[in-house]
Formats: sequence, C-alpha cells, structure tokens
Amino acid sequence: MVCLGNICRSPLAAGILQYKADNADLGWVVESSGTSRYHIGDPPHRMSQKVALSHGIDISNQRGSQFAKEDMLTFDLIYAMDRDNYADIKRMSGELWNEEKTDLILNELYPGEDREVPDPWYGNEKDFREVFDMLDKACDALIFRLTGKEG
Ligand code: 4NP
Repeated sequence: MVCLGNICRSPLAAGILQYKADNADLGWVVESSGTSRYHIGDPPHRMSQKVALSHGIDISNQRGSQFAKEDMLTFDLIYAMDRDNYADIKRMSGELWNEEKTDLILNELYPGEDREVPDPWYGNEKDFREVFDMLDKACDALIFRLTGKEG
C-alpha cells in the first residue's frame, strides 16, 4: 500500500487489509510505504491511529518508510492511493516496473474508474473517517476478488 507520506492513507490501508487477511486466515503479509522521504521512521498520523483503533485495528507499531524499487519484486501486488502515487511508483521502479501487479486501490471497488483516495493530511477527523470507509470497502472487494471470501 503506497501513498505520499506513508503516515495517513497507506498505514490505514495496510492495517485494514492485514486485519482482514488475518481474520480470514489468508497468510498474507501487507506492508506500506510512501513515495516521499518526508516521514521516514514516523508513526502513523494520530488521526489515522484513532480512526483505525475505533474499528479495533491497532496501527501504532507501523513506521514510515519510502517505496523502494525492489518492492516491485518483493510483493505480489502494489496499490497506490492516487494517480500521483501511481506515476511516482512507476518512475521510481525503473527497469523493475511491473504494470500487471500495480493498480489504484479504489479500482478494486470501482474497476477501471481510476478513482483516488483523497489525501486527508490537511483535513479533519471526518476526512480520515471517509478515507477509512473507502479503504475498508476496497479491501473487502480485493479479498473477495482474490479468494471468494467475505472480508
Ligand atoms: P499520506 O498523507 O500521503 O496519506 O501519508 C500525507 C502525509 C504527509 C504529507 C503529505 C501527505 N506531507 O506533505 O508531509
């Protein structure tokens, strides 16, 4: 799960998907990173932590990291939150870029529409809750598409 800062959206996305995958016994490893170096080593935004915890998901142990092109080999699927993230992932991956395994996360919910998860960095709790709800639905759709199981 990749966003810009790796403190608002992608830690939520990774936390939600890991939680659902664990509950469904899928054995998946979900990680997150940012395309920027702004928040390397930082915990998730306090509002992402708060909203996740209100749904029983503890993301406090995550720490910010930057997307590395080798991630394109390490992971089976790479999800961008918005179109800028997608373009940055493509650019940063260089010769390792693999279009087959990279997509916008909301394309799991709205196939082919290229919708974006809005950046809540300047927003309030309501914005973070809206981001959570979008990611929650997208992760359910992803799990159902790949496994046939309800998330
Ligand atoms: P994120 O949000 O990409 O969802 O983690 C942001 C976090 C920090 C910044 C921008 C977006 N920033 O400019 O520091």
